[in-house]
Amino acid sequence: MNEEMIGKIQKLKKKRQAVILAHNYQLPEIQDIADHVEDSLGLSIIASKIEAKVILFCGVLFMAETAAILNPDKIVVIPDPHAGCPMADMITSSALLELKAKHPGVPVVSYVNTTADVKAESDICCTSANSVKVVQSLKEPEIIFVPDKYLGAYTAKQVPDKNFILWPGYCPTHARITIQDIKKAREAHPKAEILVHPECPLEVSNAADKVFSTGGMIRYIRESKNNEFVIVTEEGIIYRLQKENPGKLFYGISDLAVCPNMKKNTLEKVLWELESLEHRVVVPENIRLKAKQAIDRMLLLT
Ligand code: 13P
Ligand code: SF4
Repeated sequence: MNEEMIGKIQKLKKKRQAVILAHNYQLPEIQDIADHVEDSLGLSIIASKIEAKVILFCGVLFMAETAAILNPDKIVVIPDPHAGCPMADMITSSALLELKAKHPGVPVVSYVNTTADVKAESDICCTSANSVKVVQSLKEPEIIFVPDKYLGAYTAKQVPDKNFILWPGYCPTHARITIQDIKKAREAHPKAEILVHPECPLEVSNAADKVFSTGGMIRYIRESKNNEFVIVTEEGIIYRLQKENPGKLFYGISDLAVCPNMKKNTLEKVLWELESLEHRVVVPENIRLKAKQAIDRMLLLT
């Protein structure tokens, strides 16, 4: 059944001159048919350079929006238009404008997990892979950081000379991971290194051996001489880690570390989307141009 569908997807992909981008949290079968599987920064970089007529984005909506902002001449589609990111929806552009009015002259760093409208009101974007570098690139002593209070707190700890105004947003998937989970994992797997994503609560990041974006985890494990790792982020990444490192052992952190939105994309929906190109992601031009400035400024640093 899957093989028949994969065959059809490959044929349609050629016919449409499409490229399939997938985030590291996607289902295994989606990762397997994708042309590129990356973290948010990697996907933004690829989207900025891509040669294709159609970009089929298997991730969540803000990621496809970023690709659409960078590629106004291409058709960007998403297999499931309901695959949103609850954290991105925790701040609106009008709320950000109010915050900016309270802190005139303070630059806004927005995590890429935001809508295009919010990016349009931001000075620069960041991802979990480059938040420290982005903040350090700003000369001002104070910054507004939205919407992830945990990534913001983790970044603030690395850049103690700046004052951070944080927005109280968070990722519901990473927020479910607790310090008790880390303690249990250390007891159960004493030889394993504990790698934590900075969207986790700060006390969880503080208890880590290393803190990385998903792409950072992949690169670190590839080079590491260690054989065992506890992976403290959304469970979808473990498929890729196991596939790329067959001799190493990976342990998930919690049955709750699942992002239901990331799992909304399926092979059936990918096939349907390549046939129909129905769920197009289009950003209004006035918003796109402003949001692009914030993304470009980040990409210039990488
Ligand atoms: P990264 O893959 O950039 O680490 O981001 C994780 C995430 O939660 C994306 O929504
Ligand atoms: Fe959003 Fe969290 Fe899901 Fe990433 S894992 S898409 S931040 S809800």
